[in-house]
Amino acid sequence: MRAAAIIPAAGSGLRLGHPLPKQFLPLAGRPLLAHALAAFAATPAVTEVVVVAPADHCQRTEELVRQGGFAKVSRVVAGGAQRQDSVAAGLAALDPAVELVAVHDGARPLVTPELIGACLAAASQHGAAIAAVPVKDTLKAVAGERIQATVDRSGLWQAQTPQAARRPLLEAAFARAAATGFAATDEAALLEHLGVPVAVVPGSETNLKVTRPEDLLVAEALLQSRQASMIDDLRVGSGFDAHRLVTDRPLVLGGVTIPHSHGLLGHSDADVLTHALMDAILGALGAGDLGRHFPDTDPRFRGIRSILLLEEVMALAHGQGVVLANADVTVIAQAPKLVPHFPAMAAVLAAACQVPAARINLKATTTEGLGFAGRQEGIAAQAVVLLGRRDRAGATF
Ligand code: CTP
Ligand code: MG
Repeated sequence: MRAAAIIPAAGSGLRLGHPLPKQFLPLAGRPLLAHALAAFAATPAVTEVVVVAPADHCQRTEELVRQGGFAKVSRVVAGGAQRQDSVAAGLAALDPAVELVAVHDGARPLVTPELIGACLAAASQHGAAIAAVPVKDTLKAVAGERIQATVDRSGLWQAQTPQAARRPLLEAAFARAAATGFAATDEAALLEHLGVPVAVVPGSETNLKVTRPEDLLVAEALLQSRQASMIDDLRVGSGFDAHRLVTDRPLVLGGVTIPHSHGLLGHSDADVLTHALMDAILGALGAGDLGRHFPDTDPRFRGIRSILLLEEVMALAHGQGVVLANADVTVIAQAPKLVPHFPAMAAVLAAACQVPAARINLKATTTEGLGFAGRQEGIAAQAVVLLGRRDRAGATF
């Protein structure tokens, strides 16, 4: 199902008490609203995002979207007096092709792509689903300054966002609320009012809504620690390889056979580009080098397509919970011209690494006739890669 998000960010942040609405205040190095937008940017299922801004801050919001590079944001629309009015304005601005909608408070900067994905999946299955957490404190009914009763908290949950639903259900819920004058502070209440069952997805205690000044401090600390652990987990690696050119072998580079008078000599298909890339990945993993994993004394690897070995190296990375963030590879060859083959190579390499092709940059250079590459005795390649932790990779890169 084609999924979109509506981000209501049109409130004025009265309880926070800052002259500028809270969604624009700096938080861990960027405007608060940018954090939620980054999480949606990193959620593959979401194709479109509509941001609802205060009528007098639409331009500021458009600038925030532009500066953050949030390419999925299709529109910034002006909100209304209540959150419900703002979400209705967002709903009216959605692309007609969208079938599933997640609504998420712009004031919840700690949402993760995983939670967004879980809400969308549950809504696609059940019709509607929201993130929520069970109440953990003991609840008191208070009147004046006196406890009237202790409220049984069993079965009580705190609603969060994302709140996702199939589009027709959400539109019907908003239409019904408008017709009956029913007002609520979340989408689930409108769906319940329509009699639609709403599923609950386990949210997170850290998915807090910045409401009061102290929430900013907590959100800042949580984001800082998340960013610190991401940086701790970045791994860089470099690789280099060279093979001799001979007349009676095909030239295979990046898994693609390239028409040429010569090919590379080696135990495998001698795909020097893929070898440099694999060595870089193994280096980043702290796992030694190619020779250690695929010794050329082992008959299993005779004539093998190096792309299959790259898949094995990536399986090793995935087993350690890390993914390829990006790779930059340079081939050093006097001939042939490689640029026309780069798109095909990047596609093959990206498929083996399970990343979008844009994550793999390919370059080629001659050595102006100097050295073994210049004399066309061989071809060399060097690679630099960055690996990152799997569950954060989308958000980080
Ligand atoms: N919101 C909105 N339109 C409104 C009111 C709120 O889009 N008319 C958005 C807020 O910007 C926020 C989310 O709904 O992202 C949750 O609302 P809340 O936390 O209450 O934010 P504010 O209304 O801005 O804060 P306050 O209630 O303290 O004034
Ligand atoms: Mg409010």
